[in-house]
Amino acid sequence: MSSTLSDESFQAVVRLFQNISGIRLADSKRSLVEGRLHKLAQHLGVSRLDDYVDRLLDERDPAEIVRVVDKLTTNETYFFREPQHFEFLARLAESHTGSEPFRVWSAASSSGEEAYSIAMLLAEKLGPTGWEVIGTDLSTVMVDTARRAVYPMERARHVPREYLKRHCLRGHGDQEGRLLISRALRQNVHFENANLMEALPSLGIFDVIFLRNVLIYFDNPAKEAIVNRVAPLLKPQGYLFTGHAESLSNLAIQLRSVRSAVYAR
Ligand SMILES: C[S@@+](CC[C@H](N)C(=O)[O-])C[C@H]1O[C@@H](n2cnc3c(N)ncnc32)[C@H](O)[C@@H]1O
Repeated sequence: MSSTLSDESFQAVVRLFQNISGIRLADSKRSLVEGRLHKLAQHLGVSRLDDYVDRLLDERDPAEIVRVVDKLTTNETYFFREPQHFEFLARLAESHTGSEPFRVWSAASSSGEEAYSIAMLLAEKLGPTGWEVIGTDLSTVMVDTARRAVYPMERARHVPREYLKRHCLRGHGDQEGRLLISRALRQNVHFENANLMEALPSLGIFDVIFLRNVLIYFDNPAKEAIVNRVAPLLKPQGYLFTGHAESLSNLAIQLRSVRSAVYAR
């Protein structure tokens, strides 16, 4: 099996992925791309990686294209990542008044840890109801994983012990070593597929939007387009969180910086 890509095939994959996700894969990602496509090619019984790319471009089978996009996205995430945001969110939830539900959007939710961390915190601060979390992601595999809500126990190391007791179930038998997010939390957390580079599905409006560790993959015009698509979904007093390594400076957007990685309408 030839598991390397010609320049031409690599550039074709770069263009395909950029058109769909908006993310431009750097040349340095070539061996990563080769490794990930290799598995898909093997699955189809195609022995040359260039042949696999030709077939992909000729047939444009939507299901195969979704598999490629899923393989090429970077999905790293963990529970209670960047804890300052959760401290800020806790204060917002505590000061929430009125009859409207407190709504939070995890706008690149990956396998769901961010959305369930938000849900645990809201359940602690607001009780079992009166709040809702929506998670969306480009990757269908990640959306399915998030909906399953099952995680290896070692992924829970940043989950406070009390939260773990109250909001997670320990697996037994063939689920040993895994945890399942409680049904009570899952009832208030919903996941769907959404591409931040395209018109968004109708999601309602939010008190807080987590748009973290996804902008880093985009160039400035794409970042600007995404923020301008997402920000109108904030309530008038709402906040947008970005990853701490991400900056919105020099972008033409209608948000003001409140503190590191926190923006207000
Ligand atoms: C590194 S993860 C970030 C997960 C989580 N927000 C966090 O901070 O831990 C980035 C996620 O962005 C998603 N993503 C990439 N491009 C996207 C796009 N155009 N629209 C929606 N999601 C996208 C990927 O599928 C991936 O799950």
